[in-house]
Order: sequence, then C-alpha cells, then structure tokens
Amino acid sequence: MSAFDPAKNVPGHIAIIMDGNGRWAAARGLPRRDGHRAGAESVEAVLRACGDLGVGYLTLYAFSSENWKRPESEIDALMGLLAHFLKEKTPVLMENNIRLKVIGHLDRLPGRNQRQLEKSIALTAKNDGLTLVVALSYGSREEIVDAARALMEKAKSGELDPAALDVETFARHLHTVGIPDPDLLIRTSGECRVSNFLLWQISYAEIVITDVFWPDFRRPHLEEAIGEYQRRHRRFGGL
Ligand code: IPE
Ligand code: IPE
Ligand code: MG
Repeated sequence: MSAFDPAKNVPGHIAIIMDGNGRWAAARGLPRRDGHRAGAESVEAVLRACGDLGVGYLTLYAFSSENWKRPESEIDALMGLLAHFLKEKTPVLMENNIRLKVIGHLDRLPGRNQRQLEKSIALTAKNDGLTLVVALSYGSREEIVDAARALMEKAKSGELDPAALDVETFARHLHTVGIPDPDLLIRTSGECRVSNFLLWQISYAEIVITDVFWPDFRRPHLEEAIGEYQRRHRRFGGL
C-alpha cells in the first residue's frame, strides 16, 4: 500500500522522533532498556535505507532535554547504549560514506560520550553521502533561546543591527546551521505531538505519524512514510 516511488521526489531531509521503545519492551514483559537496545537496530536499518534512497539528511531525536527527568538507571542505560552504538557503528558510517553531526547540549552528556562523539564527528567529517544528525540533550526552545542570546550579544557589541535581523540570520544561529529544514517528520508509536523537537525547522515539514513502535520500524515503514509524503501537495502558503 506504500506506493512509494524511488524515482519520484524523495525527501531531502527526513527527521524522526523515535518513540515507543518502552512500550515495545513492556508489551513483551521486558525491561525498558531492552526496548532501547532493540531501537538501535532500527537506527541501523533506517540509516542504510536512507543511504540507498539518496536521502541527504536524516535527523534522529535520540534524547531530549526533558528526558533528563527520567530515572538515573534509564539515563545510564541510554548513555551506555549510545557509547556502544558509536563504538560498533562508526566503522559502518565510514563504509557507507555517512557524515555524523550532533545537535543539542553535548556539554551535558557524560564526558565519555562527549569524547566519543567528537572522535566520530571528526572521523566522518569528510564523508559526502548521507548526513546523520543526532539530537542529544536537545530541546528546541533552548536552542531558540541560545540563538536569541547570541544575537543579543552581537547587537550589544555593535556587530549586528537589530533592524537588519531576518529569518535567515536567525536560522544561522540555531544548532542546525547549514542543515536544510526537514521535508518529512516521522513520529513512531502513535503520539501526535512534537515534544520540543525542531520547532523552528519543521515550519513546513510534512508530518507522518505511525502506530509502529520504534524497535519495529524498518525499511518498509520508512518507504510507506515516504509514499505518503509523495502523495501530499506542498503549497508553502501559495496556491
Ligand atoms: C523513545 O522511547 C526513546 C527515548 C525517548 C529516549 P521511549 O523511552 O519514550 O518509549 P515509550 O514512549 O515510553 O514507549
Ligand atoms: C520524545 O519522546 C523524545 C525522543 C524520542 C528522544 P518522549 O517519549 O520523551 O516524548 P513525550 O514525553 O512522550 O512527549
Ligand atoms: Mg516516549
């Protein structure tokens, strides 16, 4: 039913709110961390599919600024999985010509994760296939406030005339500087909300929500979402 056409307009940037790991585990009587571990396999499947399909950017919401409210044991499990994933998958990123980028407050992550991320980012910096953007300790409102603060500093020092501030200048002060806006936003597990993800950048994104839990999400689900995107008529306020 996907009616997905690889020769048609494949979205240049897909952003995904990878949700439902905990419920996937609960449905199987497993601890939540097993859901997160299974979710890491979906990441690899989606990465490969996006590379094959010629998608330019894939942004994955991996850990929100609000997720710090979770119990320490769950946060530790997630950071442990991130470390494991980077160790195992950095060679896969290299083999597949994938460039890694990160958005969010990296400085809030454990030092070990920060160092590993910096290494993988540097190692993959020259790859020119798919760009994988991982949102870690990311919150869109904080990102917008960071941008406002930076702009105010520039105005104070005389580097920027407040009257000259426009949308493009503002966007250049977001964590996503240099990354085009998402064309397609997918959220798994049926929740119909954006949970502080890319509020500025998704202004004109097409939104597809699927009931599938993230650990079950595979290439056919991605193709189905792209098929739905291809059937939409984007108007950007015009006719
Ligand atoms: C998404 O799955 C992963 C993260 C938010 C880190 P959840 O952990 O939110 O799973 P549910 O929503 O409780 O099922
Ligand atoms: C959004 O999922 C964050 C990530 C997927 C990393 P949550 O599970 O944290 O969102 P809420 O709490 O249901 O809004
Ligand atoms: Mg959730």
